[in-house]
Amino acid sequence: MIPIVIDTDPGQDDAVAILLALARPDIFDLSCITAVAGNVPVAQTALNARRIVELAGHPEVLVYAGAAAPLVLPLTTAEFVCGPDGMDGAGLPPAALPPEAGHAVSVLIETLQRAPATICALGPLTNLALALRLAPEIAGNITQVVLMGGAMNLGNITPAAEYNFYADPHAAAVVLNAGLRVTLIGLHLTLSAIASPAHVARIATLNTATSRAVHGMLTRPRPGNLGSNGHPMHDVCVPGYLAWPELFTGRDCHVGIDTSDGDLRGRSTIDWHNRLKRPANVFVLDSIDATVFFDRVIDALALLP
Ligand code: RIB
Ligand code: CA
Repeated sequence: MIPIVIDTDPGQDDAVAILLALARPDIFDLSCITAVAGNVPVAQTALNARRIVELAGHPEVLVYAGAAAPLVLPLTTAEFVCGPDGMDGAGLPPAALPPEAGHAVSVLIETLQRAPATICALGPLTNLALALRLAPEIAGNITQVVLMGGAMNLGNITPAAEYNFYADPHAAAVVLNAGLRVTLIGLHLTLSAIASPAHVARIATLNTATSRAVHGMLTRPRPGNLGSNGHPMHDVCVPGYLAWPELFTGRDCHVGIDTSDGDLRGRSTIDWHNRLKRPANVFVLDSIDATVFFDRVIDALALLP
């Protein structure tokens, strides 16, 4: 089993990623969930994480709210994509229980001071960056960071940048330059992680509370200017890679982050061909077998209530 902490800003794709982790306790030992401001403000991302663990039948999973704003820049949320509460389409009731008291950054530090874990980073990297600044020694207990962020090609929130890196470019720079083992899953890969109509139809046949929520999220209307037909399951690739690395390919690269506040804010410069001759700091994934991936994700979701 892989001990993990999920740091997240639910968000529909975050939700499916969390459901995948909860569906496979034979693969993932989920210590806790730390919520961060991103798609929607942190109070809502934390409540959404509670809604998701309760949907999955795991109300015992502890959720902590973390950073309410990026390290330096003001928060940019993404309700135009995920809806006012961040979970459009899921049709979930309010959370029965609130997030735990205690700040997610403190909990992240305490968790990592106790034992090694892999960080599944599904949102802006503010919590992880703050934890590394407050307690640098935890780096020795971070087995690896697998993060959804960045892009080799066009961004999504801007032409230059993917949302998680755009929202907090300074935090992304801290994490990528902390000497950690980092696996980066960017838009160049996740935009091909879109469930096919056949996969969506199969989810509908499961007829469970989980499948109804996932089906609703996958079939909700999508803003026209986001450049893809269907909802990319960006964050699901993070636990998916940990569970089934054979479905992915990648290579070690140097990745730089633009921390300016101009048109290139949050741009990830992924030196795929090592033109700049800088030492690699990230393992960048570039392909996924999306058909087998979704077959296995749906097999896992079928195990949930
Ligand atoms: O750019 C996509 C990423 O930003 C995903 O993690 C999505 O949930 C949002 O956080
Ligand atoms: Ca996310």
